[in-house]
Amino acid sequence: MKFYAINGSPRKAGNTVQVLKKVESGFYDEVHEKFPNEKIELNFINLYSLNYTSCRSCFSCKRLNGKSYGHCIINDDLKEIFRDLETADAMVLGSPIYLMDVSGEMKSFIDRLIFQYLVYDENNSSLAENKLPTACVYTMNIKKEDYDKFSLPYTLNNLESFISNIFSKVYSLKVFDTYQFKDYSKFKNSIFDEEEKLQQKLNQFPKDLDEAYNLGRKLAKDAINNL
Ligand SMILES: Cc1cc2nc3c(=O)[nH]c(=O)nc-3n(C[C@H](O)[C@H](O)[C@H](O)COP(=O)(O)O)c2cc1C
Repeated sequence: MKFYAINGSPRKAGNTVQVLKKVESGFYDEVHEKFPNEKIELNFINLYSLNYTSCRSCFSCKRLNGKSYGHCIINDDLKEIFRDLETADAMVLGSPIYLMDVSGEMKSFIDRLIFQYLVYDENNSSLAENKLPTACVYTMNIKKEDYDKFSLPYTLNNLESFISNIFSKVYSLKVFDTYQFKDYSKFKNSIFDEEEKLQQKLNQFPKDLDEAYNLGRKLAKDAINNL
């Protein structure tokens, strides 16, 4: 069993990484409990450690009879990852929210991953042969009750519908009101109350991590059903 966690946060011990690690453990435990002898390969990819560009709009992936039809032609660090994902059993994408969208690195990754498989036809057909179960997890400053007040639901729903159209159903987990600074007193900030944020970190964040763990188990169940 091969699992991929794709981290779109630059902070290697930040909120997004903690959530992704829990999804990964849930996946591992579910598979290990069901198949104790199964080899489980966990791949954790930090996008900010890679060298790659965003989509160059070259359309090599759509050129009829082209040698790269259905595949991104760009020869950078994403090439090998896209090849590996063709045999992966499940994947989770994780990103902090930056200006009401996923991070730039994650957006570029998703554009490249999805566009190569997307056919310009009436059904938006998919060339992806591996319909791997996928989850998207996001961490953000805003509070749950404010989520619908912004354009973010539209942005994330659109992104997830592209992903589900190419692969299969997509699970989604949003983690709100995250703790952003190690020490709030050291940064200019008059909108976030440190004490409130700390309470959220101590009381809500562990529950979010439990949800992330259960999400990993769900992905594993789907991956097992696909065997
Ligand atoms: C450049 C930048 C832009 C951000 N924009 C938003 C935003 O639009 N909405 C929001 O809720 N949080 C925003 N945040 C806060 C982060 O999404 C939040 O702190 C997140 O949990 C950070 O994840 P990390 O700990 O994995 O880095 C922003 C943070 C940064 C650095």
